[in-house]
Amino acid sequence: MRKTILYLIALIAVLTSCSKGEKTYKIAVSQCSEDIWRDKLNDELKMGTYFHDGVELKFASADDDDKKQIEQIHQFLNDGIDLLIVAPNQESTVSPAIDEVYDKGIPVIVFDRKTNSEKFTAYIGADNFEMGRLMGEYIATQLDGKGRVLEIMGLKGSSPAIDRHNGFVEAINNYPGITIIASLQGDWTEQSAVNAVKEWRQSIGGGDIDFVFGQNDRMAVGASKILSASSPNIRYCGIDGLPGEDGGIACVLDSVLEATYIYPTHGDEVIQLAMNILQGKPYQKDNPLMSALVTRDNAKVMMLQNEEIARQSAYLDQLHDQSDGYLHQRNSQRMISLLLAVIVLLVTLSAAIIVISMRRRHRLERQAFSMVVNAPEVDEPTEKAANKEHPIITNVTSEEQAHLEAGADARFLEKLRNRVQEQMGDSDFSVETLAE
Ligand code: FRU
Repeated sequence: MRKTILYLIALIAVLTSCSKGEKTYKIAVSQCSEDIWRDKLNDELKMGTYFHDGVELKFASADDDDKKQIEQIHQFLNDGIDLLIVAPNQESTVSPAIDEVYDKGIPVIVFDRKTNSEKFTAYIGADNFEMGRLMGEYIATQLDGKGRVLEIMGLKGSSPAIDRHNGFVEAINNYPGITIIASLQGDWTEQSAVNAVKEWRQSIGGGDIDFVFGQNDRMAVGASKILSASSPNIRYCGIDGLPGEDGGIACVLDSVLEATYIYPTHGDEVIQLAMNILQGKPYQKDNPLMSALVTRDNAKVMMLQNEEIARQSAYLDQLHDQSDGYLHQRNSQRMISLLLAVIVLLVTLSAAIIVISMRRRHRLERQAFSMVVNAPEVDEPTEKAANKEHPIITNVTSEEQAHLEAGADARFLEKLRNRVQEQMGDSDFSVETLAE
């Protein structure tokens, strides 16, 4: 019986462990900053996991601080992760920490901003050099090849700032009538552009400006906040082209910006790439994301499309939450059914064991009765017969009876038979009482 119970407990353990499902992939996301562009990306990353089983995402944001990002990457390493997705704040400072992860055999996806090392598994993001070049081309065309342009650059040492600048300069160099009057240093935030333009104005005195190229929309908007009151004819363009009321598309619709370039996030594709790497499926090392120019001509359509995508995403999110709840409920129900089945099995087994032992006891009682009732009466047993061993008798044959008559056993049996005959009418009389 004890063995059976142990066996059943082992069975329950096996069944419950099976129902826990397959491996969970722990994917860490190390973001250099926190802003609406990265919020959108993080939402898409989460959404991307809905299409794959067993993915757990862990997020960390370094708030534009290299030291903090390095610490967060080390923390991820200590916690144990299967893959790292990282946008390094500045190339040279954060790269050694990323190298450490890669050297431990953990796959690394670099996205948006690059490292200065070759130690990464794949890169995904738009071509920042090309975006800077196309913005330069756009501005030069709008100015008919003549004019003065102010550039506001993103965080020093971050790869998009370097690449967008190089692309922009390359394009403008093809137009001798266009001058880049200054490339001011910002750090991707609106406030950094406000400060940089104010400072520059105070030190240089400014001069005419026809166009401002902000390396992102937030900085272009920051520059406009300082310049537009005194110089209402300056035109502005930026990069990011985010949907939503604070995004670049709305700024184009509101005529704050003349144009923006969509800097794609595509978190779902980042997750797909991560899963391909983790599951040993084919993948490309370099994964360029396509972008598009937003001007007053297409801003309305872009906004509507994005609103539709946002609506669908919210719906998908809701569906996911519902199905999560349903799965949770189904798993609990499964567990309850499993436990019930085990309880029923245990009860049935115990009942079977009880019935078998009762039957056995009953058979023994009957044998004992028949042995005693059938035993013949004896007088004095001989000394020799009294020393005989007790035979275990199930069916008393005539030879065995004769044999028993000769010993102490016969005397004992005689007493037994008398006792049984006296108690014949008592239904409570059992083998135990008889033995007593
Ligand atoms: C968001 C952001 C974007 C910019 C990108 C460059 O954190 O500042 O505005 O285009 O990073 O990496």
